[in-house]
Amino acid sequence: MDVFKVSGNGPLNGEIAVGGAKNAALPILAATLLTEETVTLKNVPDLSDMRFMTEILRHVGAETVQPEPGTWEITAKKLTHVAPYELVRKMRASVCLLGPLVARMRKAEVSIPGGCVIGPRPIDLHIKGLKKLSCEVEISNGYVHVDASNIKGGPIFLGGRSGSTVTGTANIVMAAVLAPGTTRLECAACEPEVVDLCNLLVKMGAKIEGIGSPELTITGVEKLHGAEHSVIADRIEAGTFVVAGAITRGDVTVKGIAPSLLGAFLDKLEEAGLPMELGEDYIRVLPYEGSLKPVDVITLPHPGYPTDLQAQLGALMTQTEGLSIITERIYPNRFMHVPELQRMGADIAIEGPSAIIKGASKLSGAPVMASDLRASAALILAAFAATGDTWIQRIYHLDRGYERFEQKLTAIGAKIERLKDTDMPKELLEE
Ligand code: EPU
Repeated sequence: MDVFKVSGNGPLNGEIAVGGAKNAALPILAATLLTEETVTLKNVPDLSDMRFMTEILRHVGAETVQPEPGTWEITAKKLTHVAPYELVRKMRASVCLLGPLVARMRKAEVSIPGGCVIGPRPIDLHIKGLKKLSCEVEISNGYVHVDASNIKGGPIFLGGRSGSTVTGTANIVMAAVLAPGTTRLECAACEPEVVDLCNLLVKMGAKIEGIGSPELTITGVEKLHGAEHSVIADRIEAGTFVVAGAITRGDVTVKGIAPSLLGAFLDKLEEAGLPMELGEDYIRVLPYEGSLKPVDVITLPHPGYPTDLQAQLGALMTQTEGLSIITERIYPNRFMHVPELQRMGADIAIEGPSAIIKGASKLSGAPVMASDLRASAALILAAFAATGDTWIQRIYHLDRGYERFEQKLTAIGAKIERLKDTDMPKELLEE
């Protein structure tokens, strides 16, 4: 298995480019099933999650061609309606197939994705939305079975305990674009990735009003057609690089990202006193003396502070003098990285859904275990600020969502090597 060896190497300096957004590309790939014509997607990141998703698309009958890196041409002439467990279990986002299969085939059988380390990931809202579209939904043998022979638009309130749902909104919008009548979706997710999906659907001939707002009006059309679309930039990757600059007190320009996609995150960094320069499509982090200021953050659906940048900010706050409080409202258990940061010397207490971080701690390298995608990023960021070597195991989590992570960071001065676990000193290897 691959591991990273990361050594603190002082300030990072230079320009680093952001790729296409994983969480936009996944539902967008599923959306290609909504037409029998070819959909050409550009700026698709090269990640293991994209390989899982294209494998599932092929399984349900789509032809997938990759004429060059980052571009996919997908043609879904004839489809089957079953997405089996062997494929779905590899990636939760495969639940995004429900909407397109329901819309195109008027029936779907999609395996329910399994557990997830960041906490329960229910799909009750996806099911509620489909029922509101007059679909019959049954759960048996670990599958969601949908009969959509009588599908039609209607009013849907899609909010749950934590507010809106990102992939739930994607699914219901994709189901509704080919459903007769009008669907009024309230409490729709407003994440930029949902906006990107809606923009592609409109290019394919869908009628959607209110894009980017919590209230979407979708007027069903009979057919969608082919289109070409470039996936938006990955705001979470960009935010991770901003923290890499900040935690090393470097001068790092993160290129290819509109700062407006990261409003709540940049606002918190500004409150912390991080000097930054914001351009139309870049964020430059500047070096600073002394300590940043601690912050209080609560993760919320967009435009609130994103849960996917919670762990990374936590890593930065270990290096900030004073008490920071990070409260996780989307996935209250998303603190699996905390015990690993503690092993590196961080002073963090978990109180219910909050992490109370007392800084600044002197971090030192240790063998640590990545538990999920964003936790992996946080451990690497902490390792940049630590003395000595940090060995990070289970980095396959990172490979799901960060494209060429170590190459991009090495180019601006990071010391991060991809090795095999057999290269690790024997006494550091996990049991
Ligand atoms: N929820 C329900 N019922 C549902 C669906 C969601 O109660 O039917 C709850 C969840 O338990 C959670 C909240 O609603 O508390 C929000 O979940 P959401 O459905 O929005 O999450 P998701 O669509 O499964 C996407 C991203 C996640 C990101 C979340 C929140 C993709 C493929 N995944 O997940 O990304 O954390 O939105 O922004 O888009 C990541 O990239 O590391 C990642 C986990």
